[in-house]
Amino acid sequence: MIVGIPTEQDPSEKRVAATPRTVVRLCKMGFDVLVEKGAGNKAEHQDQQYIEAGAQLVDDAAALWSRADIVLKVNAPTKREVELMKSGTALIGFLWPAQNPELLQALAKKKIMAFSMDAVPRISRAQKMDALSAMANLAGYRSVIEAANAYPRLMSGQITAAGKVRPAKVLVIGGGVAGLAAIGAARGLGAIVRAFDTRPAVKEQVESMGAEFLELDFEEDGAGEGGYAKEMSAAFIEAEMALFAQQAMEVDIIITTALIPGKPAPKLITAGMVKSMREGSVIVDLAAPQGGNCSLTKPGATITEHGVRIVGATDLVSRMALQSSWLYSSTVVNLLESMLDDDGKFAPSLDDEVVRGALVTNEGEITWPPPKLDIPQDATAKAKEGSGVHSRGTVTVQKEPGPARGIVLALVALAAAVAIAQFAPQSFLSHFTVFVLAIFVGWQVIWNVTPALHTPLMSVTNAISGIIIIGGILQLSGDSTSTTILGAIAVCIAMINIAGGFLVTKRMLGMFSK
Ligand code: NAI
Repeated sequence: MIVGIPTEQDPSEKRVAATPRTVVRLCKMGFDVLVEKGAGNKAEHQDQQYIEAGAQLVDDAAALWSRADIVLKVNAPTKREVELMKSGTALIGFLWPAQNPELLQALAKKKIMAFSMDAVPRISRAQKMDALSAMANLAGYRSVIEAANAYPRLMSGQITAAGKVRPAKVLVIGGGVAGLAAIGAARGLGAIVRAFDTRPAVKEQVESMGAEFLELDFEEDGAGEGGYAKEMSAAFIEAEMALFAQQAMEVDIIITTALIPGKPAPKLITAGMVKSMREGSVIVDLAAPQGGNCSLTKPGATITEHGVRIVGATDLVSRMALQSSWLYSSTVVNLLESMLDDDGKFAPSLDDEVVRGALVTNEGEITWPPPKLDIPQDATAKAKEGSGVHSRGTVTVQKEPGPARGIVLALVALAAAVAIAQFAPQSFLSHFTVFVLAIFVGWQVIWNVTPALHTPLMSVTNAISGIIIIGGILQLSGDSTSTTILGAIAVCIAMINIAGGFLVTKRMLGMFSK
């Protein structure tokens, strides 16, 4: 099958849907890859690099669209691109189905199998295909770089011979993916950072990034379905705006990222608040693509009002095209990989809720919105990798093996133990019993631990494996040479385990320390 990578048509778009690195992956997956000449130029990828990665170049879009069976794009196709597509092509890109009903109709008419990267459900199994989060993370980082660029002072505090400089104070509104990345970047530049979010669950994450979490004396939880935010009551918005009005007079930089999926951005920063800010202050409005969180924001432009620079850039991710192209293309290839069957053939399964969630048109039908996922509110956090069994767009947690299966397994194990007891010597039996019990206890201990904690858990249990050393030392003084050698090997390997365990634990803990 041929995978095609066309040049993006939006002149302000610098990203490309596949980098030479992802082309290598696509080739390994068995695809032939066609790249339009110059497609990666703005993302710093030259045609020659694509050829070296295994792709073939084509001169123009028409040649590409007419040959490709699967087309990877960043942005939604233009009218002309839809005309160029051959019927039955699979298309993957940011299609924004809610905002583009006409595009969906045109794609359905052409019998395109279209997958929208922004419609990939935010569940744990789909994290590696979550292009929105990958992009928001970069946007959050870049927002701080833009703020620092527009801010006419130092971000970090300094004591110089000429005088003392205080650190900049940054307020981040919204502690989602972009907000947390912005906090990390601003802290990295030495600023004092505070943040606010309607979801109190975010507090811990904000604090772990080194920022102060601002709280309201107001009882209302902003957590909505599937880990997203919900719209707040008018009284709550009023109370938070009073908080922002007070903060605006204190801080130098405001970065706003407040978003409720599918809704226009809530207006949280008024003209009055902007006026109350110190001269030279900066607002970076990440929500500009949805109209902006600040009432003065001009999407796509940077303006100065009341001496405050308001950055309404909508292309922050594109400004880091080399990095964002690679991250975006990785999520796309991950999604594509999940659509391969056991023989490596492209065969998207509609029983897979990630594939079904992203599918917006198929066989002449508009298939968006997908059937609602039946995920409990905290399922995104709780779902263990691969534990979902999916059919018709619903997620049900895989059932524990039924009691009948358990009884059969127990009977088989018992029969095996009786058979071994018939022939094995007494000493073997006692060791075997300890061995089986150790496996059972270890399994019970590890089974209920969240996958995210497996590495620290394993490193600590490795450290605990020092018990092996005691066994090994006892054997060292044995009469037989082979026992002594085995004891020495056990001591040596256990020592590596112990030292390695503590080293890994230390490094992991270091990642969380301020
Ligand atoms: P997200 O959904 O992960 O986070 C949004 C956060 O805003 C949530 O934590 C939510 O609880 C919070 N929130 C909602 N209403 C609020 C309110 N009234 N007050 C305070 N907090 C509130 O979204 P993500 O992925 O972090 O994206 C943030 C924004 O960045 C979006 O508007 C997105 O479109 C934008 N973005 C902008 C780019 C650009 O180039 N300008 C590029 C990529 C993303």
